Amino acid sequence: MAREPSTPKLDPATLAAQALGWIEPKSRGVVPPIYPATTFERTPDYAPADRAYARPGNPTFEQPEALLARLEDGAAAMLFSSGMAAATAVFQALRPGDHVLAPKAMYWALRAWLLGFASTWGLGVELVDMSDLGALKAAIRPGQTRLVWIETPANPTWEVTDIAAAAEIAHEAEAILAVDSTVATPVLTRPLLLGADIVMHSATKYLNGHSDVVAGALVTARVDDFWQRVATVRTEGGAILGPFEAWLLLRGMRTLYPRVRLACASALAIARHFKDDPRLVGVLYPGLGHHPGHTVASRQMAGGYGAMLSLRVKGGRGAALAVASGVRAWTLATSLGGVESLIEHRRSVEGAGSTVPDDLLRLSVGIEEVGDLIADLEQALG
Ligand SMILES: Cc1ncc(COP(=O)(O)O)c(C=O)c1O
Repeated sequence: MAREPSTPKLDPATLAAQALGWIEPKSRGVVPPIYPATTFERTPDYAPADRAYARPGNPTFEQPEALLARLEDGAAAMLFSSGMAAATAVFQALRPGDHVLAPKAMYWALRAWLLGFASTWGLGVELVDMSDLGALKAAIRPGQTRLVWIETPANPTWEVTDIAAAAEIAHEAEAILAVDSTVATPVLTRPLLLGADIVMHSATKYLNGHSDVVAGALVTARVDDFWQRVATVRTEGGAILGPFEAWLLLRGMRTLYPRVRLACASALAIARHFKDDPRLVGVLYPGLGHHPGHTVASRQMAGGYGAMLSLRVKGGRGAALAVASGVRAWTLATSLGGVESLIEHRRSVEGAGSTVPDDLLRLSVGIEEVGDLIADLEQALG
């Protein structure tokens, strides 16, 4: 039912806004239908069919997957029921005994899964400071390390990893490089063009953008054996997205570029406003010149440094909790990437075992009027 536009050289922002320009042939509608069917009619001879059952794939996935593959310059994309389902599918496509490297600074729930389930299952998991390429080189085991996983900018201190350099190190050792690019989004960084093999998104965040869908996505540079194994993990494990959620996700992706650009500009304004504030120990944001990842971020992020930043509040845990509960225009809630701005005391959210400083507040900047967001933080800081 889908057709692609005849002009191939459109900017990704245009491709996203037009959802690749598909027109639904029956009604000429500019919005695709939702396919709720779980099963599809077979021919009496049971000839192999493109589509027999909805767990291996639903027609409603096709458009968001094709659009995301285009935005990331990949060969193919796959949607999952959550970001965690997408990320863990990559590791489950490895074999017990394989060695993997992951960052010390990363999304906490995935780190917990790697050190818990994945290690018990037989993966050799080692955590490395991925902002230090020397540390990555020292830890990688040629012929034994199968996967290097990075997240950039990384939760919740926004450390930056040099994707091109990490890809070179991984490939020299015959490992693949997978990048959690949830925070950067394809608007700011396109890891596959920098040499990465797989890109992962928690599509719950910026891709959907409206805090009403839990979803995940992977994009691959090549449709190869490894990608087929990941597809098998999704089909057999069944961590698929519902058709309504896939439809909502496509709708959200159509406004990805203006949302992310506005939120990034506001995040930079907030970071600059508070960077020398005497009530703070510091502002963590790759867009600030003193951030250790600033130089690499300036090279590999185009059009902004992301819309996530963290504030370290003078006075420790008590003072940070007071600021988080004193806001009015921000919402005290976890997650990120929605149109509404969120603030959270990250260590309280991560719970036991968290290594996040106790004075750190994580901020997800939305698309509200930035003056309101700054004024509210000013009053909450007292
Ligand atoms: C950077 C990052 N990666 C992965 C995930 C997991 O995504 P999901 O919550 O969609 O499973 C999150 C969720 O917060 C995240 O922030």
